[in-house]
Amino acid sequence: MKNPRAKHNFLGRTCSITGVGSYVPDRILTNADLEKMIETSDEWITTRTGIKERRIAAADEFTSDLAAKAAQRAIAMAGVTAEQIDLIIVASITPDMPFPNTACLVQQKIGARRIPSFDIEAACSGFIYALEIGHQFIMSRTYETVLVIGAEKLSSITNWKDRNTCVLFGDGAGAAILQNRPSSHGLLTTALGADGGKAELLSMPGGGSRCPATAQTVTDGLHFLRMDGKETFKNAVQAMCSAATEVLERCEIDITKIKCVIPHQANRRIIDAVGERLGATPEQLFVNLHKYGNTSAASVAIALDEAVHSGKIQRGDLILIIAFGAGLTWGAAVIEW
Ligand code: UT7
Repeated sequence: MKNPRAKHNFLGRTCSITGVGSYVPDRILTNADLEKMIETSDEWITTRTGIKERRIAAADEFTSDLAAKAAQRAIAMAGVTAEQIDLIIVASITPDMPFPNTACLVQQKIGARRIPSFDIEAACSGFIYALEIGHQFIMSRTYETVLVIGAEKLSSITNWKDRNTCVLFGDGAGAAILQNRPSSHGLLTTALGADGGKAELLSMPGGGSRCPATAQTVTDGLHFLRMDGKETFKNAVQAMCSAATEVLERCEIDITKIKCVIPHQANRRIIDAVGERLGATPEQLFVNLHKYGNTSAASVAIALDEAVHSGKIQRGDLILIIAFGAGLTWGAAVIEW
């Protein structure tokens, strides 16, 4: 392999995902429900996006609650205890509040020690960014057990009167435990990228230092997510394909060697276009967006958990994860499961 860090590094370390878990809220919002709220149709949503329903968190259920539940499942699968975790990273664009960070709240909820805990924000690419950060801490021998989570309560920043966006998003969380496991190869390589020149395509302008919350920002709807769907779509296909191609080339493998491709679940047409350009078969592509819509940072994390627990991925299989989101940001990773 061209990638020098593939397999064991010079410290004899590898970084494996030893546990995954996910959690979605109980409440289901179907396309039929949306038909009663805005001018839309099941037919439009299904043909343009592939989404049939999405999960919506309860009023008293926050991103940290979804994250903690997903984390507990990943911890159980890895066969570790919360006390063994050395670092918590949460990727989210919908933290419980601007500060303190959501990872600190998760630390308390799962009963971890007073370990370093921080959030990262790379929108829908956040889970891959967080995986790469966790990987670096494992490979450098800084930590032995890292908890990485992608969690979102997107319903809290959705404008339920805007049919262009409100049909697309949902709530949920996915988590992974990273550990050094010299017997397996784990995370082989990751390619990350960003283009701040296209920041305006997908954003929530209000509530930060640029537009602090005022009665006017609320009246103007600046605390809602907004998106130029068409431009975002084009950029998504292009960036996801090039990130995926980069990691496959670095590993010196072609797409036929990949057992399961886990793309960001934003739109069925994006997934199909990316799959087609990469030469992936429909059987290789993992799709669950019909059930959850776009859950941003949680998207590929939930999909990875479902792919593992449905038996689609077995130990030793090569998997390709690809994400894209606001920033713009993107990333891809090849993992030997
Ligand atoms: O997670 C980060 C990455 N996110 C993405 O990658 C999302 C990328 N974008 C998309 O998935 C698609 O662009 C959308 C699903 C958001 C939109 O699909 P589109 O094929 O690009 O539709 P459009 O925006 O061109 O809208 C077509 C028409 C418009 O009507 P007019 O102007 O042609 O009369 C919209 O007003 O569809 C209308 N429309 C709707 N109609 C019924 C937009 N939303 C709806 C709706 N129901 N919910």
